[in-house]
Amino acid sequence: MSSAIVTPIAAPIAAPVALDGIAIASQIKLELAAEVAVARAQGSTPGLAVVLVGGEAASEMYVRSKVRACTELGMYSEMHTRAGTATTEELLGLVASLNAREEIDGILIQLPLPEHVDTARLLEAVAPEKDVDGLHPMNMGRLLRGAAAEQVLAPCTPAGIMEMLRRSDIPVRGKRAVVLGRSSIVGKPVAAMLLNASATVTVCHSQTRDLVAITREAEILVAAIGRAGFVTKDMVRPGATVIDVGIHRMVTKAEVERFFPGDAARLAGLAKRGSTIVGDVDPAAFAVSGAYTPVPGGVGAMTIAMLMVNTVKAARMRRG
Ligand code: GUN
Repeated sequence: MSSAIVTPIAAPIAAPVALDGIAIASQIKLELAAEVAVARAQGSTPGLAVVLVGGEAASEMYVRSKVRACTELGMYSEMHTRAGTATTEELLGLVASLNAREEIDGILIQLPLPEHVDTARLLEAVAPEKDVDGLHPMNMGRLLRGAAAEQVLAPCTPAGIMEMLRRSDIPVRGKRAVVLGRSSIVGKPVAAMLLNASATVTVCHSQTRDLVAITREAEILVAAIGRAGFVTKDMVRPGATVIDVGIHRMVTKAEVERFFPGDAARLAGLAKRGSTIVGDVDPAAFAVSGAYTPVPGGVGAMTIAMLMVNTVKAARMRRG
């Protein structure tokens, strides 16, 4: 018998997988609609109140999307719009009235608020059991303590990131995770949630030294710094899962060509709608990842679905 010569071949490098936030969010909404139908049949319709202060166009669009999602799922919703001149005291009065109403399960105060409003005071005035944004210190504390996911109201974007990882079978336990950004809405809570899921977590920010050396260690890299295309190819460990939380609207051809060279579809989108968006990750960096969340259609698509999850959860926890 002749001995075969086995030539080792390099393992093929798999193409990166785009994690489809739209598909995952649709699945979550389907599941929720069924749960809402059961609750309604028992005479208990989950209800959300959204508070919008001032007429900022982007905030108004987000708020309308949140109200529309409630309607689609058979939930009750109401929108409270106040002028940009509304005082902290007036808004505290509104929150107190919403806290007191039995049919309201969730209260969401759209951020950012005008500068003269005391945002921290207002967020702390929301009853923790109705805090579907997960921004009340009580809920933040519970999250940090490691409360079971089903018993805590966690901020929607971080919760959406964890749900995408879970539903995409991307393991977190024991992995090296790096979070870029330390905001209260995304960076800090997602770091806590990754830690609760037993990742080894590093949080980087504007004062971090040797940033590239740290991000290149990441098996899971979360970019939430609010700077267009900040994460470049050299910052990504080959095969890593890259989560892009950024949303930056581009309105010029030069900007689009910088981030999407030769991408005719993007240019067509710009011509048709007058803008297109890019995240915190340079799209060229996705090519070296193992999996990534596209912009649009990634994390952004999950946030409203998770707000709906939190509202149904708040109703279940408070009403039983
Ligand atoms: N503005 C941008 N993101 C958010 C969010 O997650 N919650 C609220 N309330 N406002 C936001």
